[in-house]
Amino acid sequence: MLEHRHSAQEKLTDFDEYADRYEHLVEDNIKASGFSPSHFDDQKIKTLVANYTDKAICEQPLRFLNFGCGIGKSEYFIRAYFPNAQIWSVDVSKDSIERAKSRNSMLQGIVYKHFNDVSELHFSQTFDIIFAANVFHHVPELERVGILEYLRQYLSATGFLYVFEHNPYNPLTKSAFDTCEFDKGCKMIPSGAMIGLVKQAGYQQVNRRFIVFFPKFLEALIPLEKHLTWLPIGAQYYLKTK
Ligand SMILES: C[S@@+](CC[C@H](N)C(=O)[O-])C[C@H]1O[C@@H](n2cnc3c(N)ncnc32)[C@H](O)[C@@H]1O
Repeated sequence: MLEHRHSAQEKLTDFDEYADRYEHLVEDNIKASGFSPSHFDDQKIKTLVANYTDKAICEQPLRFLNFGCGIGKSEYFIRAYFPNAQIWSVDVSKDSIERAKSRNSMLQGIVYKHFNDVSELHFSQTFDIIFAANVFHHVPELERVGILEYLRQYLSATGFLYVFEHNPYNPLTKSAFDTCEFDKGCKMIPSGAMIGLVKQAGYQQVNRRFIVFFPKFLEALIPLEKHLTWLPIGAQYYLKTK
């Protein structure tokens, strides 16, 4: 269907095939860290909170877009840390969206939407936060800039896009990625390349930070991680951009 936009060697993951087993596969994949998968979802949303020096902003009815929400593992944490946010969760996998809905049925104020092509997404408002966690390495290379451009038009004047991706220079991340069933055929996107993509898409300000340095058995050191965000060996990185 989208074949003409893929480079020759790309074979995309159809997450409909993984919706039922996704959580189990992630759990298995990150076993070496000692953490449960929700720890990493929690960490990502905590990272967004840490970007607000005035924490009162997190209490406001922020407009939050979870782009590529998958089976909805982050929504619990988004609601917990942004209690009054209006949340839109969107994904190209219909089965994942269905699972996200049922998994989070107790959470109020979330609109779920399945789409095939980003141009089908129309919103009547802009967003204060657009969040894309481990999505872009699953997007065909030739579509990445177009999607980033499309999302940019939906950023509010004070809003930011947060792109989280795996850091290929972390050996544990690389080994987990190489053995992950749903990452087969994908390539991790080094942070420098991701910065290039957002710049190509017209974003002007770009901040890169590295996160997740210590496994569970070194949990006591996690408070130090906030001082290490410059160190390019974190398991993941994120770009905060507008
Ligand atoms: C590794 S999963 C991550 C899901 C979720 N963000 C999380 O952190 O659990 C990647 C997700 O990206 C979605 N995806 C792939 N291509 C996409 C696209 N072009 N636009 C939006 N989402 C896409 C997949 O359907 C899948 O749900």
